[in-house]
Amino acid sequence: MEKLHTNPERLKKFLTEIAVFGATENNGVSRLALSDEDKGARDQLAKWFKEAGCEMEIDRMGNMFFIRPGKDRSLPPVMTGSHCDSQPQGGRFDGILGIITGLETVCALNDAGVQLERDFIVVNWTNEEGSRFTPGTTGSGVFAGELDMEEMYALTDRNGCTFGEELKRINYMGKKDFNPQPLHANFECHIEQGPVLENVGKPIGVPKGIVCLRWYDVEIQGVPNHVGPTPMNDRKDALYAFSCMNQRIFELGLAAGNVVASVGEVHATPNSRNVIPGHVKFTIDIRGWDEPLTDQVCTDIEEAINSISKKLGMSVNIRCVWKVRRAPFSPELVSMIHETAKELNLPAHDMVSGASHDTVYINQLSPSAMIFVPSIGGRSHAEVEETSWADCAAGADVLLNCVYKTANDPAGTAYTLGE
Ligand code: GLV
Ligand code: MN
Ligand code: MN
Repeated sequence: MEKLHTNPERLKKFLTEIAVFGATENNGVSRLALSDEDKGARDQLAKWFKEAGCEMEIDRMGNMFFIRPGKDRSLPPVMTGSHCDSQPQGGRFDGILGIITGLETVCALNDAGVQLERDFIVVNWTNEEGSRFTPGTTGSGVFAGELDMEEMYALTDRNGCTFGEELKRINYMGKKDFNPQPLHANFECHIEQGPVLENVGKPIGVPKGIVCLRWYDVEIQGVPNHVGPTPMNDRKDALYAFSCMNQRIFELGLAAGNVVASVGEVHATPNSRNVIPGHVKFTIDIRGWDEPLTDQVCTDIEEAINSISKKLGMSVNIRCVWKVRRAPFSPELVSMIHETAKELNLPAHDMVSGASHDTVYINQLSPSAMIFVPSIGGRSHAEVEETSWADCAAGADVLLNCVYKTANDPAGTAYTLGE
């Protein structure tokens, strides 16, 4: 069959116009979950999907489901989705590309006059980033039954605002849940967020799955004191203890190979230039494809933190706040993405996703796979994040044709879950 194509100009227009919500001076986006900027982008998405003829459902987690009706509405639907929240000083493509390529798929199917056999659903999952409210992927995690909704409502941001209050404030707490399960297939188109595709010079990445992830909150209790009179050998400087710990975390991640360990957030108290910091709170993020190896690095890091605090005479509290299993994708859908890219003359590359995504949870419910496009300079979670319009269109074309293949299949080819 002749391949379907998305409209690159319209895709670019959607991506450019949605980037206005939370736009930063340096061409990036700050659109934290459940902020006014998130609300603005949500309202815009609702308008566009309505214009494209979709129905909309909003569940109690604020997940937005845009449904393009198929011929037989009793058949399990095909889904795609990602997130429209961003990191602080984040980029214009992370997450939103997966929703906009879904929107462009709907528009291209409309242009071609195609009514699919199955419903096609595009989802905006709430709070993927986990930056304002920890953990992340909360919308997809509750949908998949892996996270508890009431616990998520109770999460607080740095200012003490709760997730539940903020969801209500922006008017996106739905009254009931929407459950389109079982799903026939799920896809997510996303920027790679790393350097692999640029290095191999290919426009499409085909991950075999998503790495496992562990998040920790750590607090060190030292003794605040005056920086002048307190001798160097008589201090309990929590920030010094932190710097020793941070060095070990980096070294242990580096030595493990194929595991990454990062400290992203540090808060020293009282944070004054002439006070010895009495308290430090910091986060650790540890990921890897090899789950036992990743857990070994976690154990080594916990031991290093405990031994440093003991040596320096300070107390420390380490809490694991989030743990996600690795997500191996459906082998048939991974092959389909490869074949589709080939049919579209788009060179594709096998890889693993080092970033996490909503599909990490949806993969547990539904055969799933992802389509990656290159990140210029391998940069992401930063304002400079960039992907060429041609590569965005390439990802959208692969998504469109995979949706066509899976959603126009009334016989119901059975795709398997990844193992
Ligand atoms: C989200 O973008 C993550 O990978 O942490
Ligand atoms: Mn993302
Ligand atoms: Mn992200």
